[in-house]
Amino acid sequence: MTNAHTGDHALEPGFDHTVTTVVNGVPCELPVAAGMSLLDALREHLRLRGTKKGCNQGACGACTVHVDGRRVLSCLTLAVQCDGREVTTIEGLAGPGETLHPMQAAFVAADGFQCGYCTPGQVMSAVALLAEGHGGSDEEIREWMSGNLCRCGAYNGILSAIKAVRDSGTGDTDA
Ligand code: FES
Ligand code: FES
Repeated sequence: MTNAHTGDHALEPGFDHTVTTVVNGVPCELPVAAGMSLLDALREHLRLRGTKKGCNQGACGACTVHVDGRRVLSCLTLAVQCDGREVTTIEGLAGPGETLHPMQAAFVAADGFQCGYCTPGQVMSAVALLAEGHGGSDEEIREWMSGNLCRCGAYNGILSAIKAVRDSGTGDTDA
């Protein structure tokens, strides 16, 4: 197996579990501590800083990623739970080269962000929402995006972006 990711803590004591996973299409074996969150493994271990740490307690959605195509809060997910599973972060959502995922492009077009801190989590949730079939109405979208908070109040742009992708039928899967 190709081990493109080896992490920065391979030799440190306490990292006594090995997680075999695929992150953004790259197979890897990660030495992790038993209590390490997926969020910390991604940000501090693999240096994938696109996934944001907001509240670190499951209340803001900034840390949303996909595990086997389903959205999860990576701050509440143990890294060891991802053994044998496939993880997609915002860095892995785009297509080859500089091609944005349709949801990313729609967020840009609809002004679906201001400071951008919540945006990776918003985009990951939005892609999952459409894949789950929860994009039927404005109310349904707002309800199923309610776990993703935006301190800048960019909710109208986020809603517009999701509807644009829904109506185009292009954005309900990972790249
Ligand atoms: Fe995970 Fe806020 S950082 S929900
Ligand atoms: Fe600033 Fe959402 S764009 S928190």
